[in-house]
Amino acid sequence: MTPQPRMIAFIGAGNMTQSIVGGMVQSGYPANYITVSNPSTDKLERLQQQFGVNITPNNIDAVATADVVVLAVKPQLMATVCEQLKAEVPDLGDKLIISIAAGIRITKYQDYLGASRIIRVMPNTPSLVGQGMTGLVTHAATTDADRDFASSIFNRVGKTLWVDDEDQIDILSALAGSGPAYFFEFMASLQKAAVALGFNAEQARILVNQTALGAAAMATASELELPDLRAQVTSKGGSTAKGIDVYQAADIDFISAEALHAAVKRNQEMAKLF
Ligand SMILES: NC(=O)c1ccc[n+]([C@@H]2O[C@H](COP(=O)([O-])OP(=O)(O)OC[C@H]3O[C@@H](n4cnc5c(N)ncnc54)[C@H](OP(=O)(O)O)[C@@H]3O)[C@@H](O)[C@H]2O)c1
Repeated sequence: MTPQPRMIAFIGAGNMTQSIVGGMVQSGYPANYITVSNPSTDKLERLQQQFGVNITPNNIDAVATADVVVLAVKPQLMATVCEQLKAEVPDLGDKLIISIAAGIRITKYQDYLGASRIIRVMPNTPSLVGQGMTGLVTHAATTDADRDFASSIFNRVGKTLWVDDEDQIDILSALAGSGPAYFFEFMASLQKAAVALGFNAEQARILVNQTALGAAAMATASELELPDLRAQVTSKGGSTAKGIDVYQAADIDFISAEALHAAVKRNQEMAKLF
């Protein structure tokens, strides 16, 4: 059952807020329950025109009437934004706080805000097209209703996965947050290879995009494991097997493991900065 709408304030009207708010309103969340604040007004005005949400350049005004606050500013601005909220919103501690900022841990928000109900969320950019993968983590003070509410918001722009431990967010972020870039890199290399074999760039892009979309859709729809799906389209001695041999000779498993390790390590380093 979809939880009842709550008054929700988004602090920061950047890319992620635009995609989440768009997904919420387009899937039926009442626009008059949403307020977005941002210092400059152009993005706010676009959001209001497109989706009919309430807008304000003043974070305090947005938060004052909200039950839920989504913190969506860049991590380096978070301390300043939170300190102002703590100083000027007397009942801040009663509100559910959802942060989408990379790298800032729940205990930091407890320090910054004096709030107790905090959910940390890691969305990714395909949320922009309703195909996001969002990781969530929280702690004991949030209620089941808070968790259901947070899931319901991010399920409007894709899929969600709760993890038990905040360290897992660094790994989830290396996979789902950075992952679109890995797939784009791979897709671009296939596109280049197709162009080298005679297709023009547009033809190659259509072929690559649709093949990637089809493979992801099949993987999502099927109950088979990924290696079994791969085996299903790989006849012994056939052309696919020849192509797969090349990837395996380059040790694609090793490359993926190294890529994830490098990204996790960087996430852990960046988390120490905040
Ligand atoms: N993009 C991603 O793929 C992604 C994925 C996961 C998590 N995140 C996290 O999501 C958060 C937002 O990312 P984004 O990509 O949406 O960034 P963004 O497009 O740069 O948006 C940030 C917004 O915050 C506004 N802002 C600046 N100072 C503010 C203040 N004092 N009060 C209220 N708003 C203020 C900016 O306004 P002006 O432009 O007018 O200065 C801007 O519109 C970040 O913390 C990031 O770590 C992003």
